[in-house]
Amino acid sequence: MYLGLDLGTSGVKALLIDAGQKIIGSGHASLDVSRPHPGWSEQNPADWIRACETAIAELKASHPKELAAVKGIGLSGHMHGATLLDAGDQVLRPCILWNDTRSHAEAAALDADPRFRQLTGNIVFPGFTAPKLAWVKNNEPSVFAKVAKVLLPKDFLRLWLTGEHISEMSDSAGTSWLDVGKRRWSPELLAATSLDERQMPSLVEGTEKAGALRAELAVSWGIASGTPVAGGAGDNAASACGMGTVGAGHAFVSLGTSGVLFAANASYLPNPASAVHTFCHALPNTWHQMGVILSATDSLNWLSEISGKKAGELTAELGDVLRAPSGVSFLPYLSGERTPHNDSAIRGSFTGLAHESSRAVLTQAVLEGVAFAFRDSLEALKTAGTDLTRVTAIGGGSRSRYWLKAIATALQVPVDIPADGDFGAAFGAARLGLIAATGADPLAVCTAPRTDATIEPDVPLGGAYADAYQRYRALYPAIKGMTA
Ligand code: XUL
Repeated sequence: MYLGLDLGTSGVKALLIDAGQKIIGSGHASLDVSRPHPGWSEQNPADWIRACETAIAELKASHPKELAAVKGIGLSGHMHGATLLDAGDQVLRPCILWNDTRSHAEAAALDADPRFRQLTGNIVFPGFTAPKLAWVKNNEPSVFAKVAKVLLPKDFLRLWLTGEHISEMSDSAGTSWLDVGKRRWSPELLAATSLDERQMPSLVEGTEKAGALRAELAVSWGIASGTPVAGGAGDNAASACGMGTVGAGHAFVSLGTSGVLFAANASYLPNPASAVHTFCHALPNTWHQMGVILSATDSLNWLSEISGKKAGELTAELGDVLRAPSGVSFLPYLSGERTPHNDSAIRGSFTGLAHESSRAVLTQAVLEGVAFAFRDSLEALKTAGTDLTRVTAIGGGSRSRYWLKAIATALQVPVDIPADGDFGAAFGAARLGLIAATGADPLAVCTAPRTDATIEPDVPLGGAYADAYQRYRALYPAIKGMTA
């Protein structure tokens, strides 16, 4: 048995697979995000540990024998978060998350230093880790002075699980401190934010062993003490391992809290000018590119909250047949945008509202707006040298067939739906746990699931969607500067 632990923004998932990669069971616990000021987004690392314990307790209650047979553990987690520890490994302040934009000025200042784009292959986005440390240095100097280690969220879980400070390449690539081509920390970039390598965890590949389960936790869960924990991966690279998106030409669209259009690459292909992310993959000597939109299902959840209707009820009101764009447009920039704008100040908008704009029309506009944001990412990937001809859909939002049809039509590429199963980040993490524990060939383990159905672009509505995309494109420059 192998255990995958995924620390998601909205909850922790513990997933158990057997040696043949069959899913045996899972446990889950929810997490909240705190937004104490506009643009801020934080979580308490202590809550991650509690959620992890709850998820594993649930798994232990349903599958005690199988949990006891675990031979390897893999980790995955939301990326970029700054978890700051003092010399005694005590947490110094709440973790500043990936969708927190408070450090936009610091990010712009670091990005203006050409070494960052040269060495990391990426724009320094406000969501990345280095500008967050620069913000802490400027605004909470007494906290900054005590920082002995900076860990990414899943690597904080590893510290609790194993007692070790270790990270791996895929997650570390999103810090703005990694030399992404050479797969090692850049002392130069660390120095540019008044840090040095001693404040960073050591690095392994996602498929390698990175610590062993502490005796105390092993006893309480009934797992063998010393069970190896794999390097694991940031959530997107972990999902890619779960989906078999590991070879050039393979791609997925992920409809989670954030939205990601992810392409695996055989080599390092940086193109920061396109606002595409170029990161190390979890498998040795491989890389990937992705366009990232900050509010995907988060946009629908926002509409759900203010309308008092569950997200599923909202999408059900649309039925299954794709509708022509109504003239109402939605820009999903609720917490700014990464690809293609790198603009943390921009906010979302509805335009074209009329008396007849019903709730269903607004839902339709939200789904289309997110689909067009993915089209922007598709264009950005094209500029970065990667042309996608089909994608596989994953994430909670992919349960809506209407949304998938809108995405296929906006992207003008077929969208594959994987056969029933759970091929997300926790599954990818479990696969990495299996590889680290057994030394199995990563490519033989990280295979793609069977495709259950393919959603083709809607031909009759292709023209209307193209027109609506042009309106969508014109709106960003029109509303830029209109946010308070
Ligand atoms: C990727 C990113 C998000 C988080 C959230 O760059 O910020 O996808 O990993 O899960």
